[in-house]
Amino acid sequence: MVRALRDQDGITSEPVAAAFAAVPRHRFAPDAPLELAYDLHRTVPVKKDEHGLDISVMSAAHLQAVMLEQAGIEPGMRVLEIGSGGVNAAYLQELVGSKGEITTVDIDRDVIDRARLCLDDTGYTEVKTVLADGETGVPDGAPYDRIIVTAAAWDIPASWISGLTAKGRLVVPLTMCGTTRSIAFDRDDDGLISRSYGLARFVPMQGEGAAEERKAMLRDGVALQTDDVRVPLNAQALNRALDTPRLERWSGAAYDLPDELELYLTLNLSSAARLHADKDAVEHGLVEASALYGVPALVSEDSIAYRTRRENESTGGFESGVIAHGPQAEALADEYVDVLRRWAQDHRHRGAATFRYLPGAAPTPLPRDAVRRRHGIVTVAWN
Ligand SMILES: C[S@@+](CC[C@H](N)C(=O)[O-])C[C@H]1O[C@@H](n2cnc3c(N)ncnc32)[C@H](O)[C@@H]1O
Repeated sequence: MVRALRDQDGITSEPVAAAFAAVPRHRFAPDAPLELAYDLHRTVPVKKDEHGLDISVMSAAHLQAVMLEQAGIEPGMRVLEIGSGGVNAAYLQELVGSKGEITTVDIDRDVIDRARLCLDDTGYTEVKTVLADGETGVPDGAPYDRIIVTAAAWDIPASWISGLTAKGRLVVPLTMCGTTRSIAFDRDDDGLISRSYGLARFVPMQGEGAAEERKAMLRDGVALQTDDVRVPLNAQALNRALDTPRLERWSGAAYDLPDELELYLTLNLSSAARLHADKDAVEHGLVEASALYGVPALVSEDSIAYRTRRENESTGGFESGVIAHGPQAEALADEYVDVLRRWAQDHRHRGAATFRYLPGAAPTPLPRDAVRRRHGIVTVAWN
């Protein structure tokens, strides 16, 4: 697993490689087959809610490695992990060594009890386990050199910022309009500034910090989701729009680096939601395959536009395009195509975004590049 993680750029440093080699990962997933426990990209289920959705999993090894690399943990550090399971806390303990201190907190008693048992069983008795809502941090052990959040967060509460040392770093999977990036933030005056980010998927944060999201089922297997209060989600009108003829518009721009493009679209469309469609809806030709795992959509009261792609025979790659429905299809397609072209022309590279988190009341009017949250705003600059 360590070799494969290196090959796939999950592990890029010797300390993280040594931590992964030292911890007996399968003993934190005793009921799972070995292939699953050591799979690079699959999670191991730990607990599900009443609808059968995961609320706790052992995170995939690749994502854990990437986030530990982002965190840059050194011997002797004090680290807080928010969202527990045991195995990641064990990696953290290996990284900080005997002079460091690891605290791991979970909101769920079953999860934290299980983590405690696994940590004791594998000899990581010095890791502190705490049952609490991580929204308030764990002030007892603060300030921390690093805080690593392992559930998808919608906001950054003040306790996570004030709980860091002056040179502290927060690694957090931050969700913006249904898409999540693991962002490593350093402190910057009263706020935070990002130093790296990457694609991430996590179970959602529960408790006080749970996401403020709205979902609209347009029809069976087709849904829209947004966390922006300004976006209209009129399920009936948008459902009617899907029955109107589709407008197809091609951008001439390259479709490439899908995760970077998706982030740009999500943050630059003027009224963004995420469109999800199931296999049936795609097979019936109602919605394009781009929506199978969620695609950024531009929505108005009665119309919708979303991204698609086609092979570009002259370059051998793909070209991005737009599908639009409804009375305002033309206008939405024009805006969407503009954003696709702007990205391809000016920002088509890895790491184009720099995120800032500014705690406190949001300015009015809200700057165009800002995302409003309960405890502050996220702004994004593109290079
Ligand atoms: C992906 S799992 C954590 C995986 C773990 N870090 C590991 O070692 O693989 C996410 C966890 O976050 C927890 N969680 C969700 N909301 C929380 C909150 N507000 N405070 C603390 N834990 C929370 C869930 O109970 C769940 O166990």
